[in-house]
Amino acid sequence: MDSPRKSIHGQWSSRLAFILAATGSAVGLGNIWKFPYIAGENGGGAFVLIYLVCIAVIGIPIMMAEVMIGRRGRQSPINTMRALATEAKTSRAWVLLGWAGVLAGFLILSYYSVIAGWALAYVFRTGSGLFTGLTADGVQSIFTTLVSDPERLLAWHTIFITMTMVVVARGVRGGLEKAVKFLMPALFVLLFVLVGFAWNSGSFEQGIEFLFQPDFSKLSANGILIAMGHAFFTLSLGMGAIMVYGSYLPSGASIAKVSIAVSIMDTLVALLAGMAIFPVVFANGLEPGAGPGLIFQTLPIAFGHMEYGAFFGMLFFVLLVFAAWSSAISLIEPAVAWLVENRGMNRVMASVVAGFVTWLFGLMTVFSFNLWSEVKPMSGFEVFKDSTVFDLLDYLTANIMLPAGGLLIAIFAGWKMSRASSVDELAMGDRFFYPLWRFLVRYITPVAVIIVFLNAIGIF
Ligand code: PHE
Repeated sequence: MDSPRKSIHGQWSSRLAFILAATGSAVGLGNIWKFPYIAGENGGGAFVLIYLVCIAVIGIPIMMAEVMIGRRGRQSPINTMRALATEAKTSRAWVLLGWAGVLAGFLILSYYSVIAGWALAYVFRTGSGLFTGLTADGVQSIFTTLVSDPERLLAWHTIFITMTMVVVARGVRGGLEKAVKFLMPALFVLLFVLVGFAWNSGSFEQGIEFLFQPDFSKLSANGILIAMGHAFFTLSLGMGAIMVYGSYLPSGASIAKVSIAVSIMDTLVALLAGMAIFPVVFANGLEPGAGPGLIFQTLPIAFGHMEYGAFFGMLFFVLLVFAAWSSAISLIEPAVAWLVENRGMNRVMASVVAGFVTWLFGLMTVFSFNLWSEVKPMSGFEVFKDSTVFDLLDYLTANIMLPAGGLLIAIFAGWKMSRASSVDELAMGDRFFYPLWRFLVRYITPVAVIIVFLNAIGIF
Protein backbone atom coordinates (compact mmCIF):
# COMPACT_ATOMS: atom_id res chain seq x y z
CA MET A 1 0.00 0.00 0.00
CA ASP A 2 1.48 3.30 -0.97
CA SER A 3 0.69 6.67 0.54
CA PRO A 4 -2.34 8.04 -1.31
CA ARG A 5 -1.62 11.72 -0.63
CA LYS A 6 0.07 14.26 -2.86
CA SER A 7 1.60 17.53 -1.79
CA ILE A 8 0.03 20.65 -3.25
CA HIS A 9 3.37 22.44 -2.88
CA GLY A 10 5.30 20.25 -5.30
CA GLN A 11 8.01 17.68 -4.85
CA TRP A 12 11.81 17.44 -4.88
CA SER A 13 13.08 16.46 -8.29
CA SER A 14 14.90 13.42 -6.90
CA ARG A 15 16.18 11.70 -3.79
CA LEU A 16 19.45 13.55 -4.20
CA ALA A 17 17.60 16.84 -4.26
CA PHE A 18 16.04 15.97 -0.92
CA ILE A 19 19.42 15.03 0.55
CA LEU A 20 20.83 18.35 -0.59
CA ALA A 21 17.90 20.33 0.73
CA ALA A 22 17.86 18.51 4.06
CA THR A 23 21.62 18.88 4.34
CA GLY A 24 21.17 22.52 3.47
CA SER A 25 18.72 22.77 6.34
CA ALA A 26 20.92 20.87 8.76
CA VAL A 27 24.26 22.46 7.92
CA GLY A 28 24.21 26.06 8.99
CA LEU A 29 25.18 28.43 11.73
CA GLY A 30 24.59 25.58 14.16
CA ASN A 31 27.62 23.75 12.87
CA ILE A 32 30.04 26.56 12.25
CA TRP A 33 29.02 29.31 14.64
CA LYS A 34 27.22 27.56 17.48
CA PHE A 35 28.91 24.19 17.87
CA PRO A 36 32.39 25.60 18.49
CA TYR A 37 31.24 28.21 20.97
CA ILE A 38 29.06 25.93 23.06
CA ALA A 39 31.74 23.22 22.98
CA GLY A 40 34.14 25.91 24.21
CA GLU A 41 31.81 27.07 26.96
CA ASN A 42 31.15 23.55 28.16
CA GLY A 43 34.69 22.30 28.42
CA GLY A 44 35.27 20.54 25.08
CA GLY A 45 35.81 16.76 24.80
CA ALA A 46 33.15 15.37 27.14
CA PHE A 47 30.57 17.73 25.68
CA VAL A 48 31.51 16.71 22.14
CA LEU A 49 31.22 13.03 23.04
CA ILE A 50 27.72 13.44 24.49
CA TYR A 51 26.72 15.42 21.43
CA LEU A 52 27.95 12.64 19.13
CA VAL A 53 26.12 9.98 21.14
CA CYS A 54 22.93 12.06 20.95
CA ILE A 55 23.25 12.36 17.17
CA ALA A 56 23.53 8.59 16.83
CA VAL A 57 20.93 7.30 19.26
CA ILE A 58 18.45 10.17 19.34
CA GLY A 59 19.03 12.28 16.25
CA ILE A 60 19.05 9.70 13.48
CA PRO A 61 15.97 7.73 14.66
CA ILE A 62 14.03 10.96 15.17
CA MET A 63 15.06 12.27 11.79
CA MET A 64 13.72 9.09 10.23
CA ALA A 65 10.49 9.48 12.19
CA GLU A 66 10.10 13.09 11.07
CA VAL A 67 10.74 12.37 7.41
CA MET A 68 8.37 9.41 7.60
CA ILE A 69 5.56 11.40 9.20
CA GLY A 70 6.05 14.20 6.70
CA ARG A 71 6.00 11.96 3.68
CA ARG A 72 2.93 10.12 4.89
CA GLY A 73 1.04 13.34 5.58
CA ARG A 74 2.26 15.33 2.57
CA GLN A 75 1.09 18.65 4.06
CA SER A 76 2.36 21.33 6.41
CA PRO A 77 3.30 19.81 9.78
CA ILE A 78 0.12 21.18 11.36
CA ASN A 79 -2.18 19.55 8.81
CA THR A 80 -0.01 16.45 8.58
CA MET A 81 -0.37 15.89 12.32
CA ARG A 82 -4.10 16.35 12.06
CA ALA A 83 -4.37 13.88 9.16
CA LEU A 84 -2.15 11.25 10.72
CA ALA A 85 -3.79 11.53 14.13
CA THR A 86 -7.11 10.87 12.45
CA GLU A 87 -5.64 7.99 10.48
CA ALA A 88 -4.24 6.52 13.69
CA LYS A 89 -7.58 7.13 15.48
CA THR A 90 -5.87 9.02 18.24
CA SER A 91 -6.35 12.42 19.89
CA ARG A 92 -6.69 15.54 17.74
CA ALA A 93 -4.48 17.30 20.25
CA TRP A 94 -1.47 16.05 18.27
CA VAL A 95 -2.06 19.00 16.00
CA LEU A 96 -0.57 21.13 18.76
CA LEU A 97 2.77 19.55 18.01
CA GLY A 98 2.57 21.17 14.59
CA TRP A 99 1.75 24.52 16.15
CA ALA A 100 4.57 24.32 18.66
CA GLY A 101 6.93 23.66 15.77
CA VAL A 102 5.73 26.73 13.91
CA LEU A 103 6.31 28.85 17.00
CA ALA A 104 9.78 27.38 17.51
CA GLY A 105 10.57 28.13 13.87
CA PHE A 106 9.63 31.79 14.26
CA LEU A 107 11.63 32.16 17.45
CA ILE A 108 14.72 30.41 16.12
CA LEU A 109 14.72 32.26 12.83
CA SER A 110 14.35 35.55 14.68
CA TYR A 111 17.79 35.23 16.22
CA TYR A 112 19.29 33.08 13.49
CA SER A 113 18.76 35.92 11.09
CA VAL A 114 20.60 38.40 13.31
CA ILE A 115 23.64 36.12 13.55
CA ALA A 116 23.50 35.45 9.81
CA GLY A 117 23.55 39.24 9.51
CA TRP A 118 26.91 39.25 11.31
CA ALA A 119 28.19 36.78 8.73
CA LEU A 120 26.95 39.08 5.96
CA ALA A 121 28.73 42.02 7.55
CA TYR A 122 31.91 39.96 7.72
CA VAL A 123 31.84 39.22 4.01
CA PHE A 124 32.67 42.88 3.49
CA ARG A 125 34.99 43.23 6.46
CA THR A 126 37.17 40.32 5.40
CA GLY A 127 36.93 41.08 1.68
CA SER A 128 38.24 44.61 2.14
CA GLY A 129 41.37 43.32 3.86
CA LEU A 130 40.40 44.94 7.15
CA PHE A 131 41.86 42.07 9.17
CA THR A 132 45.20 41.83 7.39
CA GLY A 133 47.96 41.58 9.99
CA LEU A 134 45.68 42.45 12.92
CA THR A 135 46.27 41.07 16.39
CA ALA A 136 43.63 39.25 18.41
CA ASP A 137 42.78 42.51 20.18
CA GLY A 138 42.21 44.37 16.93
CA VAL A 139 39.98 41.60 15.62
CA GLN A 140 38.00 41.57 18.84
CA SER A 141 37.38 45.29 18.78
CA ILE A 142 35.99 45.10 15.24
CA PHE A 143 33.50 42.52 16.47
CA THR A 144 32.53 44.59 19.49
CA THR A 145 32.01 47.67 17.35
CA LEU A 146 29.67 45.77 15.07
CA VAL A 147 27.45 44.22 17.73
CA SER A 148 27.20 47.33 19.84
CA ASP A 149 25.54 49.23 17.01
CA PRO A 150 21.82 48.37 16.92
CA GLU A 151 21.23 50.17 13.64
CA ARG A 152 23.79 48.13 11.81
CA LEU A 153 22.55 44.87 13.25
CA LEU A 154 19.03 45.81 12.32
CA ALA A 155 20.04 46.61 8.77
CA TRP A 156 21.82 43.28 8.27
CA HIS A 157 18.98 41.41 9.96
CA THR A 158 16.52 43.07 7.59
CA ILE A 159 18.62 42.15 4.58
CA PHE A 160 18.92 38.53 5.65
CA ILE A 161 15.19 38.12 6.35
CA THR A 162 14.44 39.62 2.96
CA MET A 163 16.84 37.19 1.26
CA THR A 164 15.16 34.30 3.05
CA MET A 165 11.65 35.37 2.14
CA VAL A 166 12.54 35.86 -1.52
CA VAL A 167 13.63 32.23 -1.78
CA VAL A 168 10.74 30.91 0.26
CA ALA A 169 8.31 32.80 -1.95
CA ARG A 170 9.66 31.00 -5.01
CA GLY A 171 8.79 27.58 -3.68
CA VAL A 172 10.29 24.18 -3.27
CA ARG A 173 12.35 23.86 -6.40
CA GLY A 174 13.08 27.45 -7.20
CA GLY A 175 16.66 28.58 -6.97
CA LEU A 176 17.94 27.12 -3.78
CA GLU A 177 17.81 23.51 -4.81
CA LYS A 178 20.25 24.44 -7.53
CA ALA A 179 22.45 26.69 -5.46
CA VAL A 180 22.92 24.20 -2.65
CA LYS A 181 24.29 21.67 -5.11
CA PHE A 182 27.60 23.42 -5.48
CA LEU A 183 27.71 25.58 -2.39
CA MET A 184 27.74 22.71 0.08
CA PRO A 185 30.77 21.01 -1.52
CA ALA A 186 32.51 24.38 -1.71
CA LEU A 187 31.97 24.95 1.99
CA PHE A 188 33.48 21.55 2.69
CA VAL A 189 36.58 22.34 0.68
CA LEU A 190 37.04 25.67 2.36
CA LEU A 191 36.75 24.13 5.80
CA PHE A 192 39.58 21.80 4.85
CA VAL A 193 41.67 24.79 3.84
CA LEU A 194 41.03 26.31 7.25
CA VAL A 195 41.89 23.10 9.06
CA GLY A 196 45.11 23.14 7.03
CA PHE A 197 45.84 26.61 8.33
CA ALA A 198 45.06 25.53 11.88
CA TRP A 199 47.41 22.58 11.41
CA ASN A 200 50.27 25.04 11.01
CA SER A 201 49.16 27.38 13.75
CA GLY A 202 51.43 25.77 16.31
CA SER A 203 48.58 24.70 18.59
CA PHE A 204 46.88 22.08 16.48
CA GLU A 205 47.40 19.34 19.05
CA GLN A 206 46.07 21.43 21.86
CA GLY A 207 42.98 22.24 19.83
CA ILE A 208 42.37 18.60 18.95
CA GLU A 209 42.89 17.54 22.53
CA PHE A 210 40.42 20.11 23.75
CA LEU A 211 37.84 18.88 21.27
CA PHE A 212 38.33 15.14 21.53
CA GLN A 213 39.72 14.32 24.94
CA PRO A 214 36.78 13.89 27.29
CA ASP A 215 37.14 15.28 30.78
CA PHE A 216 33.83 14.64 32.46
CA SER A 217 34.66 16.79 35.43
CA LYS A 218 34.18 19.80 33.15
CA LEU A 219 30.67 18.81 32.12
CA SER A 220 27.61 19.89 34.14
CA ALA A 221 24.08 18.51 33.98
CA ASN A 222 23.12 21.66 32.15
CA GLY A 223 26.00 21.02 29.72
CA ILE A 224 24.52 17.60 28.93
CA LEU A 225 21.17 19.22 28.16
CA ILE A 226 22.92 21.74 25.92
CA ALA A 227 24.71 18.91 24.07
CA MET A 228 21.43 17.09 23.52
CA GLY A 229 19.60 20.27 22.53
CA HIS A 230 22.32 20.94 20.03
CA ALA A 231 21.91 17.51 18.45
CA PHE A 232 18.31 18.52 17.69
CA PHE A 233 19.22 22.01 16.60
CA THR A 234 22.01 21.00 14.28
CA LEU A 235 19.95 18.29 12.59
CA SER A 236 16.95 20.67 12.29
CA LEU A 237 14.79 18.28 14.32
CA GLY A 238 11.83 18.71 16.61
CA MET A 239 10.02 21.60 14.92
CA GLY A 240 8.77 20.31 11.59
CA ALA A 241 11.49 21.56 9.22
CA ILE A 242 12.59 18.08 8.30
CA MET A 243 8.96 16.94 8.41
CA VAL A 244 7.90 19.50 5.84
CA TYR A 245 10.88 18.64 3.66
CA GLY A 246 9.91 14.98 4.03
CA SER A 247 6.46 15.87 2.72
CA TYR A 248 8.10 16.80 -0.60
CA LEU A 249 10.14 13.58 -0.78
CA PRO A 250 9.34 11.23 -3.68
CA SER A 251 7.71 7.99 -2.56
CA GLY A 252 10.41 5.50 -3.47
CA ALA A 253 13.36 7.05 -1.63
CA SER A 254 14.82 5.19 1.35
CA ILE A 255 14.22 7.24 4.47
CA ALA A 256 16.93 5.50 6.49
CA LYS A 257 19.61 6.11 3.90
CA VAL A 258 18.82 9.75 3.38
CA SER A 259 18.63 10.41 7.13
CA ILE A 260 21.97 8.78 7.80
CA ALA A 261 23.62 10.59 4.90
CA VAL A 262 22.37 13.96 6.12
CA SER A 263 23.44 13.29 9.71
CA ILE A 264 26.93 12.22 8.74
CA MET A 265 27.51 15.28 6.57
CA ASP A 266 26.20 17.57 9.25
CA THR A 267 28.44 16.07 11.91
CA LEU A 268 31.51 16.23 9.69
CA VAL A 269 31.00 19.92 9.05
CA ALA A 270 30.72 20.65 12.76
CA LEU A 271 33.84 18.68 13.63
CA LEU A 272 35.81 20.32 10.82
CA ALA A 273 34.71 23.74 12.05
CA GLY A 274 35.88 22.85 15.56
CA MET A 275 39.20 21.62 14.23
CA ALA A 276 39.68 24.85 12.31
CA ILE A 277 38.81 27.10 15.21
CA PHE A 278 40.29 25.73 18.45
CA PRO A 279 43.92 25.59 17.32
CA VAL A 280 43.62 29.27 16.40
CA VAL A 281 42.02 29.99 19.76
CA PHE A 282 44.93 28.42 21.66
CA ALA A 283 47.66 29.72 19.38
CA ASN A 284 46.47 33.25 20.10
CA GLY A 285 45.84 32.87 23.80
CA LEU A 286 42.10 33.38 23.35
CA GLU A 287 39.36 32.13 25.60
CA PRO A 288 37.54 28.98 24.31
CA GLY A 289 34.48 30.05 26.29
CA ALA A 290 34.26 33.46 24.60
CA GLY A 291 30.61 32.86 23.66
CA PRO A 292 28.62 33.73 20.55
CA GLY A 293 31.38 35.92 19.11
CA LEU A 294 33.90 33.06 19.05
CA ILE A 295 34.22 32.42 15.32
CA PHE A 296 34.03 36.13 14.54
CA GLN A 297 36.93 36.74 16.87
CA THR A 298 39.12 33.78 15.84
CA LEU A 299 38.77 33.04 12.14
CA PRO A 300 39.58 36.61 11.08
CA ILE A 301 42.93 36.22 12.86
CA ALA A 302 43.60 33.21 10.65
CA PHE A 303 42.51 35.09 7.55
CA GLY A 304 44.56 38.11 8.54
CA HIS A 305 47.71 36.01 8.57
CA MET A 306 47.37 33.70 5.61
CA GLU A 307 48.25 34.36 2.04
CA TYR A 308 45.26 35.58 0.05
CA GLY A 309 43.48 35.77 3.40
CA ALA A 310 41.14 38.54 2.30
CA PHE A 311 39.96 36.38 -0.56
CA PHE A 312 39.60 33.18 1.46
CA GLY A 313 37.97 35.08 4.30
CA MET A 314 35.42 36.62 2.04
CA LEU A 315 34.73 33.27 0.41
CA PHE A 316 34.30 31.65 3.80
CA PHE A 317 31.74 34.16 4.99
CA VAL A 318 29.89 34.02 1.68
CA LEU A 319 29.58 30.27 2.08
CA LEU A 320 28.55 30.66 5.70
CA VAL A 321 25.81 33.03 4.61
CA PHE A 322 24.62 30.46 2.08
CA ALA A 323 24.67 27.71 4.69
CA ALA A 324 22.59 29.93 6.99
CA TRP A 325 20.29 30.86 4.14
CA SER A 326 19.45 27.27 3.24
CA SER A 327 18.71 26.59 6.93
CA ALA A 328 16.62 29.72 7.37
CA ILE A 329 14.19 28.80 4.63
CA SER A 330 13.49 25.48 6.32
CA LEU A 331 12.77 27.21 9.63
CA ILE A 332 9.94 29.19 8.11
CA GLU A 333 8.64 26.67 5.55
CA PRO A 334 6.23 24.93 8.00
CA ALA A 335 4.50 28.26 8.71
CA VAL A 336 4.39 29.27 5.07
CA ALA A 337 3.03 25.90 3.95
CA TRP A 338 0.28 26.22 6.55
CA LEU A 339 -0.63 29.78 5.48
CA VAL A 340 -0.96 28.55 1.92
CA GLU A 341 -3.06 25.53 2.87
CA ASN A 342 -5.37 27.11 5.41
CA ARG A 343 -5.45 30.82 4.75
CA GLY A 344 -5.69 30.65 0.99
CA MET A 345 -2.63 32.84 0.53
CA ASN A 346 -0.23 32.42 -2.35
CA ARG A 347 3.40 31.72 -1.45
CA VAL A 348 4.46 35.31 -1.94
CA MET A 349 1.87 36.67 0.46
CA ALA A 350 2.51 33.91 2.97
CA SER A 351 6.25 34.63 2.87
CA VAL A 352 5.74 38.33 3.45
CA VAL A 353 3.51 37.71 6.46
CA ALA A 354 5.80 35.10 8.02
CA GLY A 355 8.87 37.18 7.28
CA PHE A 356 7.45 40.25 8.92
CA VAL A 357 6.54 38.42 12.11
CA THR A 358 10.03 36.93 12.31
CA TRP A 359 11.64 40.27 11.63
CA LEU A 360 9.74 41.81 14.55
CA PHE A 361 10.77 39.03 16.93
CA GLY A 362 14.32 39.59 15.74
CA LEU A 363 14.45 42.98 17.41
CA MET A 364 14.82 41.22 20.76
CA THR A 365 18.09 39.70 19.62
CA VAL A 366 19.31 42.87 17.93
CA PHE A 367 18.96 44.74 21.23
CA SER A 368 20.38 41.91 23.35
CA PHE A 369 23.87 42.79 22.18
CA ASN A 370 23.69 46.52 22.85
CA LEU A 371 20.76 48.46 24.36
CA TRP A 372 19.65 45.48 26.43
CA SER A 373 23.03 43.91 27.06
CA GLU A 374 22.55 44.38 30.78
CA VAL A 375 19.00 43.04 30.80
CA LYS A 376 19.14 39.61 32.45
CA PRO A 377 15.48 38.61 32.84
CA MET A 378 16.11 35.35 34.70
CA SER A 379 19.07 36.39 36.83
CA GLY A 380 17.38 34.88 39.89
CA PHE A 381 18.33 31.40 38.64
CA GLU A 382 21.96 30.34 38.97
CA VAL A 383 22.27 28.87 35.42
CA PHE A 384 20.71 31.95 33.84
CA LYS A 385 22.36 34.61 35.93
CA ASP A 386 24.32 36.05 32.99
CA SER A 387 21.79 35.21 30.27
CA THR A 388 20.62 38.00 27.99
CA VAL A 389 17.29 37.89 26.16
CA PHE A 390 19.10 36.32 23.20
CA ASP A 391 20.67 33.63 25.41
CA LEU A 392 17.29 32.79 26.87
CA LEU A 393 15.63 32.58 23.46
CA ASP A 394 18.34 30.26 22.30
CA TYR A 395 18.07 28.14 25.45
CA LEU A 396 14.29 27.94 25.32
CA THR A 397 14.15 26.92 21.68
CA ALA A 398 17.20 24.67 21.28
CA ASN A 399 17.28 23.03 24.69
CA ILE A 400 13.61 22.82 25.57
CA MET A 401 11.29 23.24 22.60
CA LEU A 402 13.20 21.11 20.08
CA PRO A 403 13.91 18.14 22.39
CA ALA A 404 10.31 18.25 23.66
CA GLY A 405 9.06 18.34 20.06
CA GLY A 406 11.39 15.47 19.17
CA LEU A 407 10.18 13.46 22.15
CA LEU A 408 6.59 13.81 21.00
CA ILE A 409 7.52 12.94 17.43
CA ALA A 410 9.18 9.76 18.65
CA ILE A 411 6.14 8.87 20.74
CA PHE A 412 3.80 9.51 17.84
CA ALA A 413 5.89 7.50 15.38
CA GLY A 414 6.60 4.67 17.79
CA TRP A 415 3.38 4.34 19.73
CA LYS A 416 0.55 6.06 17.89
CA MET A 417 1.09 5.33 14.22
CA SER A 418 0.24 1.79 13.27
CA ARG A 419 3.13 -0.58 12.78
CA ALA A 420 1.81 -1.25 9.29
CA SER A 421 2.09 2.43 8.34
CA SER A 422 5.67 2.78 9.49
CA VAL A 423 6.76 -0.54 7.98
CA ASP A 424 5.23 0.58 4.73
CA GLU A 425 6.71 4.07 4.76
CA LEU A 426 10.22 3.14 5.93
CA ALA A 427 10.43 0.09 3.68
CA MET A 428 13.56 -1.30 5.29
CA GLY A 429 12.51 -4.90 5.47
CA ASP A 430 11.32 -6.61 8.60
CA ARG A 431 14.53 -8.26 9.74
CA PHE A 432 16.95 -6.13 11.65
CA PHE A 433 16.91 -2.44 10.85
CA TYR A 434 13.21 -1.81 11.17
CA PRO A 435 12.94 -3.48 14.61
CA LEU A 436 16.06 -1.59 15.69
CA TRP A 437 14.56 1.74 14.64
CA ARG A 438 11.26 0.92 16.30
CA PHE A 439 12.98 -0.06 19.52
CA LEU A 440 14.96 3.18 19.51
CA VAL A 441 11.99 5.50 18.93
CA ARG A 442 9.73 3.64 21.32
CA TYR A 443 12.07 3.24 24.26
CA ILE A 444 15.58 4.59 24.02
CA THR A 445 14.92 8.02 22.52
CA PRO A 446 12.02 9.07 24.78
CA VAL A 447 13.69 7.77 27.91
CA ALA A 448 16.98 9.46 27.04
CA VAL A 449 15.32 12.82 26.43
CA ILE A 450 13.34 12.60 29.67
CA ILE A 451 16.40 11.62 31.70
CA VAL A 452 18.40 14.53 30.33
CA PHE A 453 15.53 16.92 31.11
CA LEU A 454 15.15 15.65 34.65
CA ASN A 455 18.89 15.65 35.14
CA ALA A 456 19.11 19.29 34.10
CA ILE A 457 16.52 20.37 36.64
CA GLY A 458 18.30 18.36 39.29
CA ILE A 459 15.77 15.55 39.76
CA PHE A 460 17.67 12.64 38.32
N1 PHE B 1 20.13 23.02 11.66
C1 PHE B 1 20.33 24.42 11.48
C2 PHE B 1 21.78 24.75 11.85
O1 PHE B 1 22.48 23.91 12.37
C3 PHE B 1 19.37 25.24 12.29
C4 PHE B 1 17.95 24.79 12.23
C5 PHE B 1 17.29 24.38 13.37
C6 PHE B 1 17.27 24.74 11.01
C7 PHE B 1 15.99 23.92 13.34
C8 PHE B 1 15.96 24.29 10.95
C9 PHE B 1 15.32 23.87 12.11
O2 PHE B 1 22.21 25.83 11.63
